[in-house]
Amino acid sequence: EEVLGAVRSGKSVFFTGSAGTGKSFLLKRIVGSLPPNITYATASTGVAACHIGGTTLHAFAGIGSGKAPLEQCIQLAERPGVRQHWLACQHLIIDEISMVDGKFFDKLEAVARAVRKRDEPFGGIQLIICGDFLQLPPVCKANEETKFCFQAKSWRKCIHINMELTEVRRQTDKTFVSLLSAIRLGRCTEEVTRLLMQTAAHRSERDGILATRLCTHKDDVEITNERRLQQLPGEVHVFEALDSDPMLVKLIDAQCPVGGRVELKLGAQVMLAKNLDVSQGLVNGARGVVVGFESEQKGLPKVRFLCGVTQLIKMEKWVIKGPSGVHLSRQQLPLKLAWAISIHKSQGMSLDCVEISLSRVFESGQAYVALSRARSLAGLRVLDFDPKVVRADPAVLQFYRQLRRHQLPTQVKKNLLLAKPALCNQDERYGHQDVSVFLSRIHTCSGRRDEAAERACSRAALGNNISTVVLGLCDTTWSSG
Ligand SMILES: Nc1ncnc2c1ncn2[C@@H]1O[C@H](COP(=O)(O)OP(=O)(O)OP(=O)(O)O)[C@@H](O)[C@H]1O
Ligand SMILES: [Mg+2]
Repeated sequence: EEVLGAVRSGKSVFFTGSAGTGKSFLLKRIVGSLPPNITYATASTGVAACHIGGTTLHAFAGIGSGKAPLEQCIQLAERPGVRQHWLACQHLIIDEISMVDGKFFDKLEAVARAVRKRDEPFGGIQLIICGDFLQLPPVCKANEETKFCFQAKSWRKCIHINMELTEVRRQTDKTFVSLLSAIRLGRCTEEVTRLLMQTAAHRSERDGILATRLCTHKDDVEITNERRLQQLPGEVHVFEALDSDPMLVKLIDAQCPVGGRVELKLGAQVMLAKNLDVSQGLVNGARGVVVGFESEQKGLPKVRFLCGVTQLIKMEKWVIKGPSGVHLSRQQLPLKLAWAISIHKSQGMSLDCVEISLSRVFESGQAYVALSRARSLAGLRVLDFDPKVVRADPAVLQFYRQLRRHQLPTQVKKNLLLAKPALCNQDERYGHQDVSVFLSRIHTCSGRRDEAAERACSRAALGNNISTVVLGLCDTTWSSG
């Protein structure tokens, strides 16, 4: 509600939070609450854009890679079809901001002012941005330097309100949630290592459904899926997409979660690429196996899902906004082969059962993105865990520390007020003084680990209802609980 209020105030908002705190879920609500003709929903990648029913930020901007000099980028943005969007846009929504390059952001900001002929930051467009900078950074070529968006020159000018979602929704198991939050901060304790190593023994198959392998490199994905399909006996069933504009297949391919040609066999491991029925668990990312094909007409596949439902899968339609604003569409089965997917493409997804090999991790945040896709520890199997692959970018940690430092005083005051009566009246072991000592430690360290304070918190956790208040406070300061 607070985020929605901030959006309604017309100010530009950045909200962040760990994986699965419902950023995209909330973003969809925000998109739905704003007038569609002046609101543009975008994300850094096609897959993420699809989750919120939008386009890529690059497609909206129409300035190519944005690497050309500013004058040239402005000319590109003033082309008919592109310009009218820049002028119409009053609310620009961007999901998965961690993968947007800071230099690109600065270019957009300058282009917006030039095209809209307005001097305010971003030409007066309200920005509603979300993402988690401790997940994947912008994609960059070898020897190329990239910046995060928060390092962009114009970032501070453009963002008026920063907020953080703190309650994880994707996972419910507390142990797994705190394990993930330690990994997110690049901390890998012995306990975390032990728990992750144990997952190697988890079953990678349940009811004929194999865990999806998350790969660090995309070549491995294609090879694995093709090879595994080939290895299955039986006939291949091919489903060709019906595209609204066959000339723009490349564009549709880039933004639609399913391919133009879907090849299946009996026994193929698949993943849903659309929410079909949330109440039954037939959601985007749900895992299943092909158990048959309809005998008549199109020979549609029947899929048995992990949630226990067997469903005949019909053609679905995706509507995508092209660069000049025209609506493009694809009709295709909402299915993808799911022996493997890349970690990059998995960012933003929730997955039922995953198998991960982290030996070739090459980015900060990559191991965290992979691990945090799993809905439960039981649905996770890490083959070769090595604590070395757990890395958080120091610049991002610093950014979050600063963000907290600004937010902290009000948050601490609120919690302290709640805590005081309980502390004074109910628990003699942790009197007011004890607790204010570690509250002030938490306050001053603001993100830095303080073992004495941590010990005090665990002791408090053994206490009565005081513990809830105190641990709640830890959450807001360290995330690690
Ligand atoms: N307020 C909510 N009520 C019920 N379910 C929610 C809520 N918020 C999120 N969820 C569910 O929790 C899961 C994770 O949410 P979502 O994908 O929006 O998280 P996210 O913060 O965008 O994660 P990521 O950083 O991985 O993209 C989804 O299955 C979503 O439907
Ligand atoms: Mg998301």
